[in-house]
Amino acid sequence: MINIPKGTKDVLPEQSYKWQYLEDAARSVAAAFGLKEIRTPVFEHTELFLRGVGETTDVVTKEMYTFEDKGGRSITLKPEGTAGVARSFIENGLANSPMPLKSYYLTPCYRYERPQAGRLREFHQFGIEVYGSAQPETDAEVIFAASSFLNKLGIKGARLEINSIGCKSCRAEYNRALKEYFRPHLDGMCANCRDRFDKNPLRIIDCKEEACRKITAGAPKILDYLCPDCRAHFESVKGYLSALGVEYTVNPDIVRGLDYYTRTVFEFVSTAIGAQGTVCGGGRYDGLIAELGGGNVPAVGFAAGLERLLLLMDNTGVEFPAPPVPRVYVAGMDEPTRKKAFGIVNGLRVKGISAECDHMARSVKAQFKYADKIGAEYVAVIGGNELESGSCTLKRMRDGQTFDMPFADIYEFLKNNI
Ligand code: HAM
Repeated sequence: MINIPKGTKDVLPEQSYKWQYLEDAARSVAAAFGLKEIRTPVFEHTELFLRGVGETTDVVTKEMYTFEDKGGRSITLKPEGTAGVARSFIENGLANSPMPLKSYYLTPCYRYERPQAGRLREFHQFGIEVYGSAQPETDAEVIFAASSFLNKLGIKGARLEINSIGCKSCRAEYNRALKEYFRPHLDGMCANCRDRFDKNPLRIIDCKEEACRKITAGAPKILDYLCPDCRAHFESVKGYLSALGVEYTVNPDIVRGLDYYTRTVFEFVSTAIGAQGTVCGGGRYDGLIAELGGGNVPAVGFAAGLERLLLLMDNTGVEFPAPPVPRVYVAGMDEPTRKKAFGIVNGLRVKGISAECDHMARSVKAQFKYADKIGAEYVAVIGGNELESGSCTLKRMRDGQTFDMPFADIYEFLKNNI
């Protein structure tokens, strides 16, 4: 037997309604916030992520699925959605569209991580990206969209944590302070962080190694190094959030694991799903479009991990609406009545009514049992008498009530009995 690759999951037919529920909720929140779907390829040129996500990030150094294609190009399966959307924004000249440009996506992502609860190698994100506005209300709106999505799903207890990691100029000063702080500790830090020390000291803050985490605990905080503009921006984002009644805590340790962020960063964190508690993360990234060769276009967005949300919903007993069931099961007894049942069922399907009949040559009793198992709302049996009279009885399974009608009226009946 060939097994599924480590860190991936099948979504089986009996479970897919949960996924569809999440995806429908995502699409309806997106519609309410005026976001339009963007679809970009699952794979991109590796260079996009090196430049976009950042060469010193864990994602790029350890986790990417990178391979050479038959044409000798280095290709990478997308580890996240933002870089591909940014590439598409530039390549398709979307800077010329009316701003802000508001987009969303539902996409698989790939990271070679050690699998555990809520952490997979193939996972799925609902993300949004808004281009063109540097205004703090846009940050607040994006955060509110994330919060609305979680609320719509009935998720409670995901705490919103926010921070600002400033712009290039305040970051330069902060990096100097970090280097000063980390220099005497370098020997006790992991090889990756020693490398980050020169290239990108901010990344050290996000290191998961125990030794580095201990050292990092005493490091200077970015909030103390914000320039006046960034500070005012952050204050204003907080003001807009409060105006919407969104509760948050400021967590000065959030720096996010990807390099493109500037100013606002945020995460929704739950304690109900174990170590991988971040169900949603995002922030502003005003430099990414320029970094990738586009103009000076500010942007802000987030992505939520759908597997983590499902886990959280299952763990906290959030109810999913029941999946749809067949409206009617039509049973036949012998060749001519089975043919009639087959015709009725398929006629109903064409008109948009979900209907079922036998495909296993079962007895009428066994067909009833099956109809019950699949949750059919009504069951009709076509026998010789029914065939002759052109009418049948629909039995409502929920309460046993029966309804007599000609075959031709079944559609109208079901349409009107919702
Ligand atoms: P991220 O924090 O790397 O941000 O990922 C966003 C979400 O994806 C996480 O909060 C988590 O729920 C989910 N996730 C990440 N890795 C895994 C994994 N291995 N298994 C399961 N779920 C996972 C980004 O990807 C940014 N592109 C978000 C963004 C959009 N920022 C601005 N715009």
